[in-house]
Amino acid sequence: MQTLRRKDILGLEEMSAEEITLILETARSMREIMQRKIKKVPTLRGRSVLNLFYEPSTRTKASFELAQKYMSSDAVSVAGTSSSLVKGETLKDTVRNVEVMGVECVIMRHPVSGSAHYLARNVEASVINAGDGMHEHPTQGLLDMFTIWENKGRLEELKVVIVGDIRHSRVARSNLWGLQKMGAEVAVAGPPTLMPPDLDVFGVKHFTSIEEAVADADVVMALRLQKERQESGFFPSMREYAETYGLNARRLEHTKEDLLIMHPGPINRGIELSSDLADGPRSVIMDQVAAGVAVRMALLYLLLGGTKE
Ligand code: CP
Repeated sequence: MQTLRRKDILGLEEMSAEEITLILETARSMREIMQRKIKKVPTLRGRSVLNLFYEPSTRTKASFELAQKYMSSDAVSVAGTSSSLVKGETLKDTVRNVEVMGVECVIMRHPVSGSAHYLARNVEASVINAGDGMHEHPTQGLLDMFTIWENKGRLEELKVVIVGDIRHSRVARSNLWGLQKMGAEVAVAGPPTLMPPDLDVFGVKHFTSIEEAVADADVVMALRLQKERQESGFFPSMREYAETYGLNARRLEHTKEDLLIMHPGPINRGIELSSDLADGPRSVIMDQVAAGVAVRMALLYLLLGGTKE
């Protein structure tokens, strides 16, 4: 049985191409379980998992919970707002208390960048980062790569353009690290104010013209535009953003016929992505959501070391 030689999944920056390949290949086997009528295997029977979400989530939380159920683990979910955090308990104390109840793996979403690393250093349980501030969202990056791999048959030498608020996006960071490790050619596009000051670290090209960026792209990934960024002065108005940088049929007129259109969700329809593209034949957004369950099943299996059925 192959396992990951690591305790935690904190980011794709520290992960090797070999590890990413193992996760994607394992996710392919897990997807086969999802396609069965009875989606249940005993792989993680008797293993205990905690879902700890300090920020809202639909896709990540639901897919982790389903992955845990499909693999027969015992899982509990705690929302930050209804936990003893509001009474002043620290993150470390929260997890240590749950650890002595038998929890072996903690899946955490937290608004502070670096919080997943902090937790991993302070507890014995495995930690899976479900999004920490503006740092990384590794399981999203993995499910995005799985979706591209499934649809294109490879990742190497594909041209992938990530459009929008790269500066504040943990999804963009995970994809930038992961895709380049897997041999894809990645570029970013959007207003200069929404580019990270350390963009050079990633060694990717920046386009301000979306039409130019997507002209020979195999994949275009739109990111959610966070409304609070407008109030902070990063761009003048949502309408102007949509007019200049939003993805729509006119803007993608001169692109490859088999271009994949992706979005991590939740979508601001008509702002970063038009509805006809989001729901159209080139969109693989629902594939991304489905891949989320398979990838998270694979990670639980590889970390907790279950027995393959
Ligand atoms: N893509 C993503 O992380 O979605 P949620 O915030 O709904 O989990």
